[in-house]
Amino acid sequence: MADNSNNGMNGKTPNDSKIEMTELVLPNDTNLLGNLLGGRLMHWMDIAGALVASRHSNKTVATVALDSLDFRHPVRMGELVILKAKMTWAGRTSMEVAINVYAENLKNGNVILTNKAYMTFVALGADCKPSLVPPLIPETDDEKNEYIEAEKRRDDRLKKRSKE
Ligand SMILES: CC(C)(COP(=O)(O)OP(=O)(O)OC[C@H]1O[C@@H](n2cnc3c(N)ncnc32)[C@H](O)[C@@H]1OP(=O)(O)O)[C@@H](O)C(=O)NCCC(=O)NCCS
Repeated sequence: MADNSNNGMNGKTPNDSKIEMTELVLPNDTNLLGNLLGGRLMHWMDIAGALVASRHSNKTVATVALDSLDFRHPVRMGELVILKAKMTWAGRTSMEVAINVYAENLKNGNVILTNKAYMTFVALGADCKPSLVPPLIPETDDEKNEYIEAEKRRDDRLKKRSKE
């Protein structure tokens, strides 16, 4: 695990900052086929992730990375989009958030997972420079596994960044 014990803050659990956000897909959110626009979904995911990172850090955050995003099922006009976002990892100033997206058909109540992504945010101070965040304390086995996997993803992202 990363050594983020020197930031002088009390840790927080993933439950302390997790959120659930619901949107109704309206005509203005869809393409010519009546399916949710990918760009609109990414916007909602960005907001959901930023809310979680802001809640964890109590600071303004900037998005620095979005891992690959698959569109597994089209979401139709009139369906609900439910975004569940939760912290997976926190470093010195950066945080990773997992965002799971579900579509709910209001006519039959069916709910399906349509998208999953990991996004990285950096907390910013009043000077707009990266600013320290509280450590994350994973509690459940799932959260502990996510934390370990998040560190591997972060290493890959930073390797990719250093090559660019
Ligand atoms: C956010 C920003 C201020 C960070 O500046 P920076 O010079 O990259 O700062 P650092 O190199 O000190 O990195 C800060 C943290 O982000 C992490 N980071 C930076 N780029 C990353 C990436 N691509 N993937 C994962 N982590 C990354 C660093 O590892 C570091 O984490 P740590 O403090 O937890 O160890 C700067 O990158 C920026 O302004 N980016 C544009 C953000 C933006 O406009 N987003 C869209 C709108 S919100």
